Amino acid sequence: MTRTITFKLNGRPRVVEVEDNETLLEVLRNKLGELSVKAACYKGECGLCTVLFNGRPVKSCMVLAVEADGGDVVTAAGIASNGELVPVQKSFIEHGAFQCGFCTPAFVVASHYFLQKNPNPTREEVKEFLSGILCRCTGYKQIVDAILDAAKYYRK
Ligand code: FES
Ligand code: FES
Repeated sequence: MTRTITFKLNGRPRVVEVEDNETLLEVLRNKLGELSVKAACYKGECGLCTVLFNGRPVKSCMVLAVEADGGDVVTAAGIASNGELVPVQKSFIEHGAFQCGFCTPAFVVASHYFLQKNPNPTREEVKEFLSGILCRCTGYKQIVDAILDAAKYYRK
């Protein structure tokens, strides 16, 4: 069955027709052209499809699009504030925390959320929080370094 849903995507209202069994990931990428959201496993294992949904990180392949009706979705393409990169985005660049970059949007979204909740994390806490997101390239060291270094900007 097809339904019309309305939700906010990166601050803009979007209206889209979705199938009952379509995932938020499919709708974001295939119907709304939100290609900053990456896809690999489609079964909740790689974490590359992570977005903020109603303020919390979720794997968008595990959310039905109909569940997003009335909700608020933010992707890596939308977390910059007034065109300025958020601190963790800048830190990823400074630390060279990516190679192919395929995992970067998910890490950026999740770590931006994490640092707002825990601006004084230990290395182990960062690793544990991000353990659901896979990177095939970097070995994670630069990613964790970038997040730990960015944390100072999230402390009030
Ligand atoms: S595509 Fe969603 S967790 Fe892998
Ligand atoms: S930088 Fe290539 S998958 Fe992480």
